[in-house]
Amino acid sequence: MKVLVIGSGGREHTLVWALSQSPKVEKIYCSPGNGGIAAQAECLPALSQSELLEFAKKESIDLTVVGPEQPLVEGIVDLFKQKGLAIFGPSKAAAELEGSKLYAKEFMDEFNLPNAKYKEFSDLELAINYLKEISFPTVIKADGLAAGKGVVIATSKEQAKGALKSMLEDNAFGEAGSRVVIEECLQGEEISVLALVDGHSIVALESSQDHKRIFDNDEGPNTGGMGAISPSPLYHGELKQRIEEQVLQPALKGIQKRGLDFHGVLYAGLMIAPDGTPNVLEFNVRFGDPETQAVLARLDSDFFDLLLATSKGELAQAELKWKPQQAVCVVMAAGGYPGPYDKGKVISGLDQANALEDTVVFHAGTTLKEGQITTAGGRVLGVTSLGNDLAQAQDKVYQAVEAIQFDKAFYRKDIGNKALKVHST
Ligand code: AMP
Ligand code: GLY
Repeated sequence: MKVLVIGSGGREHTLVWALSQSPKVEKIYCSPGNGGIAAQAECLPALSQSELLEFAKKESIDLTVVGPEQPLVEGIVDLFKQKGLAIFGPSKAAAELEGSKLYAKEFMDEFNLPNAKYKEFSDLELAINYLKEISFPTVIKADGLAAGKGVVIATSKEQAKGALKSMLEDNAFGEAGSRVVIEECLQGEEISVLALVDGHSIVALESSQDHKRIFDNDEGPNTGGMGAISPSPLYHGELKQRIEEQVLQPALKGIQKRGLDFHGVLYAGLMIAPDGTPNVLEFNVRFGDPETQAVLARLDSDFFDLLLATSKGELAQAELKWKPQQAVCVVMAAGGYPGPYDKGKVISGLDQANALEDTVVFHAGTTLKEGQITTAGGRVLGVTSLGNDLAQAQDKVYQAVEAIQFDKAFYRKDIGNKALKVHST
């Protein structure tokens, strides 16, 4: 089988790595890929949707797998399917679950998924007036895609006003910020549940927990994600059942009732309230990054089979087995991220880190230049290890991280610590 993966981050390296382990996969292409992906796949330049389609036809690609949300929201799945090509991902209409926060909120309310109370605004004055009625902190979200930067947790009225102004008046996010959601700020523990959806069934993968803030102890600004663990110690027993009954099954029913063509991943970002209510903070319609690194490191089934079964609507027959170990992924970022940072720094120690037991270094922002791997993005690597328990996985992963060097490398030292506390209580 020939597979084409679209994207260039740590998530895509993980998808390529997991696909490369299937005995059925004979060749992987990736557009555009990165310095690490190049070891397992033939990297193509960044191509437009029509160029990707032409390539897939010419090379008789058996399955195309879309990593990031942008091409999904732009309708790549519809384009491929119109030409009869197999592709993993939701249609343009279904991708609105991620592409529009308002669409997602209306969907959650219609199908009774627990979520934060909200109001929608496109008029700055009305939005500012509404601030008089609410308490703080409150959450302000740009409706459309904003590369992970469209959510502001405003602790004061002044901060909320500033966020509203930048979205509704200064067009900081362009069209994506021309409508906003002001929603109740929820408290609790966050977990990510990624589920495969094939139109007939929804099957949760193992749970994970992201670490979104840049600094230890969840301080500083939000990032794309600085590390992840899988599984989350919270996801078992009654909570697992509540997520299935109150989130996943209603989401599937909604997808079916709305007639959405969804053959891909539904990612539910959840805030578990102190009373155990699994509130949905957001939906994504793709694999999470870096959650995928931690989750797929534990997969013990053929990943290609799973994706193909999902794309064909045959998920019910697919096998899904997991390694019992705990996974920890630590993101090594370029100093300065999520603000401005340097690129082009030579990375050393990758071979030593990869040689450690149960460890794999997924590349995110790297490139291969004159035989050397150099940094090319904010999140540079996702170092991932398995251990018999969380503490062992942490020991291994930080040993691997310490073996890797590049100028101004930055990483959190506490990935998994919050979950360790849950284990010990
Ligand atoms: P999103 O892009 O919607 O995932 O939001 C990014 C992050 O903002 C989430 O992972 C949460 O940490 C936080 N967040 C979003 N919505 C809320 C909310 N209603 N209450 C508290 N935190 C939130
Ligand atoms: N790690 C968060 C995301 O993938 O959206």
